[in-house]
Amino acid sequence: MSGKKLVVLGSINADHILNVQEFPRPGETITGQGYRISFGGKGANQAVAAGRSGANITFIACVGEDDVGRQVRHQLEQDRIDVAPVEAIAGTHTGVAMIFVNRHGENVIAIDAGANAAVTPDYLNKYRQHVVEADALLMQLETPLETIVAAAALAKANGTTVALNPAPARSLPDELLSCIDIITPNETEAEYLTGIAVTGEEEAHRAASALHAKGIRTVIITLGSRGAWVSVEGEGQLVKGFRVEPVDTIAAGDTFNGGMMTALLEGRALLDAVRFGHAAAAIAVTRPGAQPSVPWREEIDAFLAKQ
Ligand code: RIB
Repeated sequence: MSGKKLVVLGSINADHILNVQEFPRPGETITGQGYRISFGGKGANQAVAAGRSGANITFIACVGEDDVGRQVRHQLEQDRIDVAPVEAIAGTHTGVAMIFVNRHGENVIAIDAGANAAVTPDYLNKYRQHVVEADALLMQLETPLETIVAAAALAKANGTTVALNPAPARSLPDELLSCIDIITPNETEAEYLTGIAVTGEEEAHRAASALHAKGIRTVIITLGSRGAWVSVEGEGQLVKGFRVEPVDTIAAGDTFNGGMMTALLEGRALLDAVRFGHAAAAIAVTRPGAQPSVPWREEIDAFLAKQ
């Protein structure tokens, strides 16, 4: 385990997953198969990826006062995560995600925030000391934006590295972007933030430059199986991903983020940390579901040793 401390602030969901041949069209009813409920939420998935990769990690989040909430909190502890700042909120349910996975392994997701909406600036304030003392803070966009803005400002003011995975896609205030040290959009999210459609390396370079212009030093645009465009202060390059046969891509980006941040906090160079994240994500896409697919450190090291 790295001595450096990572805090993840984010969401927890119960994922209701159904496999379908093709996604249903408006007005269409189709029959799927393999219905299951497993633990997810972009925040929790990233926390689990970090915990299983060996990070020293604390998670700030909320669950509902329900069975799923109790079970997921217990599971997060098994995944070597400090869950002291994960509270059960009375009168609400644990967040929910409805997910279709098609025969190509692609997914569409709709979420109901539930207890994730209770991660307010006041809630953050209760646990602010974790952010102040952390080496890095990793966030996504499934918690209230005002909390993310407050957490980024708190981290920035205290010398904590701020990493943002801007998923799901939405536009963001410059006030937030100027506090971010590392941003990890996928192609869609990069287009949302910059207006530049990322169709190749040239466009990735331009989108990264637009994000650098907002004050972000490190921009990592994930490109699915092709890898990631990694740009530091305008110097960019493609770091290729690993070829695997995907089963489903749920939480691939989350696993990348959690793994990469763990490797960075261990002192690895950025490109090496990105490669570590790619390896973790490559394993995850060969398995179904979100958290059930996230690999442990020994698996990632073994995968990398074989390359
Ligand atoms: O990134 C995948 C996650 O998005 C799922 O686990 C689901 O809960 C949604 O938050």
